[in-house]
Amino acid sequence: MRKTWVLGNWKLNNDSQSIRQWLEDFQQVEVPSNAVVGVAPVSIYSQHVAAHAPQNLLVGSQNVSQFDGGAYTGEVSAAMLSDAKIAFSLVGHSERRMYFGETNEITKDKVNALLQTGIIPVLCCGESQVQYETGKSQSVVESQLRAVLDHVAAEDVAKLVIAYEPVWAIGTGLTATPEYAQQMHQFIRALVAEYSSSASDLPILYGGSCNGSNAKELFAQADIDGGLIGGASLKVSDFNKIIEAAR
Ligand code: PGA
Repeated sequence: MRKTWVLGNWKLNNDSQSIRQWLEDFQQVEVPSNAVVGVAPVSIYSQHVAAHAPQNLLVGSQNVSQFDGGAYTGEVSAAMLSDAKIAFSLVGHSERRMYFGETNEITKDKVNALLQTGIIPVLCCGESQVQYETGKSQSVVESQLRAVLDHVAAEDVAKLVIAYEPVWAIGTGLTATPEYAQQMHQFIRALVAEYSSSASDLPILYGGSCNGSNAKELFAQADIDGGLIGGASLKVSDFNKIIEAAR
């Protein structure tokens, strides 16, 4: 039985004061036994959050360097994240691809850097609005995923979490319908099955304007194992509604 994952992505939001409040508010949250809950703060705060997080909250990173160390100004390595007790890291988020030029090739290297240190890679994929409207969703997601899966050892595929995030749904209030999202998740699971017998155990999360009103229906779909939550993770009261939907 797969668990339901609810991961927050704070993006470039929150500061030490709002984070203190968030952690205090989170003390009231009861994480259902079938759920895995986590949050990815801005990197400068993640070590603090990891040090103060309760046991039922995984702390993640929004990004990781593909390099192990050396002359790479501004980067944070997977080993450093591990040293700071970071449990998971997003990789290949559409905002990284769009604004920071991250290619499938870089994404593949980042996933492998994480796998070497035991941090869970949360591999993000998803099509743009134009690709969606022109019927290219599956082929885009397929090439994003194959670019990584072709270079990951079969036994490591079981260590991945995949987040399907249609770009047109991120931060727009336009959520994919549960039927459409399910279709894409089913497609992704079948694709992963070509690489690993663990595909049926793989958590595949939905992301893109997921909130307290639509989470329950999305999470009820056969191949949707939770959500990657942006805007609705910034306030514990909103985030908790999504955690409750995991029950
Ligand atoms: P959103 O962002 O929930 O604000 O749409 C999701 C994400 O980008 O991970």
